[in-house]
Amino acid sequence: NTFVVVMAGGIGSRFWPFSRNNHPKQFHDVLGIGESMIQTTVKRFDNICPPENVFVVTNREYADLVRQHLPQLQEDQILQEPVGRNTAPCIAYACYKIAQRNPNANIVVAPADHVILRQAAFEDCIQQALEATSRQDILVTLGIKPTRPDTGYGYIQYLENSSPLKKVKTFTEKPDLELAQSFLESGDFVWNAGIFIWNAQAILKAFRRHLEEIADLFEEGASTYYTSSEAPFIDNAYSQSRNISIDYGIMEKAENVYVILGDLGWSDLGTWNSLYSLAEKNEDGNVVDGNVLLYDTQNCIIKTPKDRLVVLQGLQDYIVAEYNNVLMVCHRNEEQKVKEFVADVKARK
Ligand code: GDD
Ligand code: MG
Repeated sequence: NTFVVVMAGGIGSRFWPFSRNNHPKQFHDVLGIGESMIQTTVKRFDNICPPENVFVVTNREYADLVRQHLPQLQEDQILQEPVGRNTAPCIAYACYKIAQRNPNANIVVAPADHVILRQAAFEDCIQQALEATSRQDILVTLGIKPTRPDTGYGYIQYLENSSPLKKVKTFTEKPDLELAQSFLESGDFVWNAGIFIWNAQAILKAFRRHLEEIADLFEEGASTYYTSSEAPFIDNAYSQSRNISIDYGIMEKAENVYVILGDLGWSDLGTWNSLYSLAEKNEDGNVVDGNVLLYDTQNCIIKTPKDRLVVLQGLQDYIVAEYNNVLMVCHRNEEQKVKEFVADVKARK
């Protein structure tokens, strides 16, 4: 009775121009390995749960992309949101729906756009967590050793013990830089990988306790799940739901949170430079996915359509990325500007 919920409703806007409103990051082959991130994500669970127990939650706009990328899914396994309301409603929808038929389900929730290089270690971690959540009503998250004071992550402080599951003392979502720096220096904290494990009753109780309005909304529709009334019910529920992440809404507040530490080769592949550090480089330090001729060009990321020949000379440390009629050339040290570009492009429309 293990189920997997894949959250696939985000856009991943720092990966522009690849990530676009109509074609978000999870539907791209970001690493250039011949499959999209959402395909890799679902495959990652092949040994963990049967294919019919995988649910993908996404915006209705991306339902066709999900069908294309994951033709093995039945319609019932694609949960369509009318609008994005962040991860708390997304998780509530999936977990209330799963619990309706399988009140004793054991559930893994995972983002559709992360990289995990060590599959065996990942499966180990998940199995250990599932073993614990099948016996106890606890909320488990995967913890990753931090390498920089990144303010985009959740930071977890835990009580040291010898067992793989460690009780969480504090969970701080997206601290400011100063706090992140002090967490990193203390050596006591791990990053939240954003992959959660719990049983259906534990997460339903947590919604009831910490996000009562959301619990009310999704519980009320329980009888519509798996019927033709589900879509109209969900449209209405989302129109009333607040916008909040599971991290702020539940993980920061709950007292029964545990963390399992994993050395998984994990990356959320959030930015061009995170791709640079993971991807294979040629002898000049270039990451190349495209049809290119390079002269005196080093340490660049070049990701361009195969049908366009790209000739570059004298370029160091640049991102050259083209997708769907947008070409971006941006210095790798200035990648945080991508957000500005996206906003300015939007304003031009
Ligand atoms: N279906 C659906 N609907 N999916 C969503 C929605 C939504 O409204 N919003 C976000 N997602 C998906 C994203 O596509 C992504 O796969 C996942 O949920 C997490 O959302 P992000 O928006 O990427 O969260 P984050 O990166 O800011 O923070 C989370 O992940 C970090 C690790 O990458 C938190 O859990 C942090 O604590 C964590 O450190
Ligand atoms: Mg993310």
